[in-house]
Formats: sequence, C-alpha cells, structure tokens
Amino acid sequence: MSINYQDRIPNNVDLGSNRTLQRALEHWQPEFLNWWQELGPKDFQIADVYLRTATSVDAKGWATYGFVKMPEYRWGIFLAERNGDRKIGFGDNFGQEVWQQVPGEHRSTLRRLIVTQGDTEPASVEQQRMLGHTAPSLYDLRNLFQVNVEEGRHLWAMVYLLHAYFGRDGREEAEELLERHSGDADKPRILGTFNEPIRDWLSFFMFTYFTDRDGKFQLKSLAESSFDPLARTCQFMLTEEAHHMFVGDTGITRVIKRALEVMKELNSDDPEAIRAAGAIDLPTVQRYLNFWFSSSLDLFGSESSSNAASYFANGLKGRPDESRYEDHIALDSMYTVEAPDGHGGTKAEQIAMRNAMNDVTRGSYVKDCEMGVTRWNRLIEKAGHSFRLSLPSTRFRRNIGIWANVPTDPSGKPIPQEEFNAKIASWLPSEGDQAFVLSLMHGVHEPGKMAAWVAPPDRGINNNPVDYEYVKMH
Ligand SMILES: [Fe+2]
Ligand SMILES: [Fe+2]
Repeated sequence: MSINYQDRIPNNVDLGSNRTLQRALEHWQPEFLNWWQELGPKDFQIADVYLRTATSVDAKGWATYGFVKMPEYRWGIFLAERNGDRKIGFGDNFGQEVWQQVPGEHRSTLRRLIVTQGDTEPASVEQQRMLGHTAPSLYDLRNLFQVNVEEGRHLWAMVYLLHAYFGRDGREEAEELLERHSGDADKPRILGTFNEPIRDWLSFFMFTYFTDRDGKFQLKSLAESSFDPLARTCQFMLTEEAHHMFVGDTGITRVIKRALEVMKELNSDDPEAIRAAGAIDLPTVQRYLNFWFSSSLDLFGSESSSNAASYFANGLKGRPDESRYEDHIALDSMYTVEAPDGHGGTKAEQIAMRNAMNDVTRGSYVKDCEMGVTRWNRLIEKAGHSFRLSLPSTRFRRNIGIWANVPTDPSGKPIPQEEFNAKIASWLPSEGDQAFVLSLMHGVHEPGKMAAWVAPPDRGINNNPVDYEYVKMH
C-alpha cells in the first residue's frame, strides 16, 4: 500500500479506516511534538534542513529529499509490504502461520519488547540534543538532524504498535515513552547506554557506529518475530538505520584520516603534538571506542538467559538473519561460553543453545563492528604507522552477564581489582581526554567549511557537493 500523505499522520496502514485508532494517535501527536520542541535538537527548530522523507517502502527510491523545518517533518507509520506467505521462522511453532494479532499468552512479553525498543529511540534524540551547536560542518549538522528525525519516526513505529494492538495498556506505555528521559535521576530511560551523555562529536560518531549498530541487531531479531506487524515495521526501520551507522562509520574514518594527515605534517605520532595541532590522537580514539563498544555490549543482555530462551521458543524474537541458520528449532544443541572461574582464570561452560541467544546475537554484532576496525587499521597501516585500533574483549568492563563487575584488562584477561582500578583511567576517556575533545567542539556553520579535527567526507548527500548548504539558518 502506498504512503498516504493526505492524513495528518502519514501512513501506509490505511489508518483512515480505523477512526478510533486514528483519533488515539492524533491525540498522541501533539504530545510528541511538545516533546520534540522541549527535548529534541536545541535551537535549530526554524532552520531549513535538507532531509529525506520516506515516500514508499520498497527498496529502491523510498526517499525524497528537500528542505524541511524539523518540527514539520512528516513523522508517520510505514510498514514493509506484507508477505502473505510468511511463516514462523524459528522456535516451537516453526512453519506455522505468522500472527496478525497478538496472542493473549504473549501479550505482556511482546508489549515489554516493543516498549524497550521504543524507549531507545527518543532517548538518543535527547542524548544528542545539544550537538547542533558544535557541528563540525553543515554536512554533519544535517546528518545529525536526519538521524534525530528518524529516531523520532522509530518512536512513532513502536507507538503505532502499542496503540493498534495493546489497547489501554499500550496507550499508557506510549505516554510513558515521552515521560522517561535520558539521564533523568527519577525517570531514566530503560537501558544504561541510553542514559550516557553525548557531549561531543567523537562520542556521537562512536554512538552511531556502536550503539545504533546494536539497534540494527535488535531490529534484525525483531524483524524475525512471529508477530507480523512488528516484523514488518522493523524491516522498514532497518533501511533508515543504515544511514545512522554510515554517519558513525564515516565520522570515525574522517577523525582518523585527519589525525593521519597531521601526523604526516608533523612527522610525529606524539599524542601531545597531534593535539596541539588541533586533531584527535589515535590513542584517544581507542579510549572512546573502548567506552562505547563495552557499554553497547551490555545491551544484548546476559550470556545465559531464560528470557532469551522463551522469546526464541515462543517465536517472539529470533536471531538476526535467522534464515542463515540450519537448525531453527535449536532445542538439542549446546553453546559454550567462557565464564570467570572465580580464581582469576576462565572456565568453559556449556549452556543450552536457546539460553545463549543473546550471546549468539552479540557475536554477530561484534563481527559487524570488526569490519570498520579493519578498514580503519588499513588506513593507519597505509600511512605507515604501527598503531592499531582494536575492539576490547567482550569481557571488558561489563555490567551485565557472567562478566559483570569482573575486573579484566581490555584483552579480557582477569586481573586483580586494584590493578583494574589503577589502570581503568588509561583505558577509557579520562577527564583530560574529554576536556580536550570538548575544547575542539566549535560549531562550523558556513557552507564548505570544516572543523580542523575531522577530514571532509568523500561525497555529499544525494549527489550534492560537500559544500552544499545542507542547513539554512535564519
Ligand atoms: Fe532507531
Ligand atoms: Fe538509529
């Protein structure tokens, strides 16, 4: 079904045919807009921003580009096309019809999954709300706002499901999605990483690389769900999500490129010299990477999880790219995890495969994260330097799961608590690092100009030049 932009809420779900639902969502809409004004991007609400808006949900040409004031962005409800032959792809009900309605016995679990996903979407907008002031270029400013409006739309995607399928409970949850706030002492967002402040653009690039990528894997798991409307909405969200990770990937690449240029000019890899020249040294990039990667790993949950097992058994949440696995029942197989042995070493533990689904997904995520690191290291190697970036171990600095609060070094080796306490400041961004990175953050809001700490991108957006005026201030 094509997207209807005539309605107050653009949609491809024939919203007009369900007046009660339409009215409920139209009632939520002004609350969303209030939230956007209060906690969305600060101070750029009247700027004209070169944004893409979804105009269809098929793979090609789903977006149109044009100048939009953010509060006038057409947030709406877009589900991927329904596949009438779709069958349940995993778990105890493998091969049966997918569900168009929520089965009573899975109602509260599905609601919880949708709320948890939905909560991350506005959280990231809140985390990023001050960054417009310090954007390194108009190109970057536009990308930030594109990410922000789409996270707002992802909230719409989840709120639609809550309103359409979960009755009064769903409507109440939708209200609460606007009441919790990132970092709020009384009503924080549900997941830890989404309460971490993002004060600078290096953190923003790390967040979009590592934490939006967690989002990709969560969405891929939910895109396998037997609850078909959830699967379809996540399928379309994934196409938007790709841009967010592009922003992180190219952002980190450009930071590294700039550092390498300065290292060449100075003929030095001395971090102090590189900083004095206004670029970000590679060891600092590594410490930011350590922070955001390890924080994002916790989002996948415990290595061994009875919840994960029942989500899989019941067909609520599958593995990313479930069709690539041979065994979709996963009832008889085992999975090995390396657990701390309590004496400073590790021991192999066997757990049922279904209980290991969080770790299976985390493993796919880590592989995906590796790809960027490999590319970045190639750049560094080509420039003739021996420094290499690396992902820390999945055991490092964990707060959830079998390695929670077990002191290890970044390679995952268990170490005494005292040693950990003494060294952690050298593994994560120190106050000095953060103050330095913040000192570089000055808004560059002139077309074609770029802050000195980041290289320009290879190309602009939608075939426009890099120096295009992507955001018009007033
Ligand atoms: Fe999102
Ligand atoms: Fe995202």
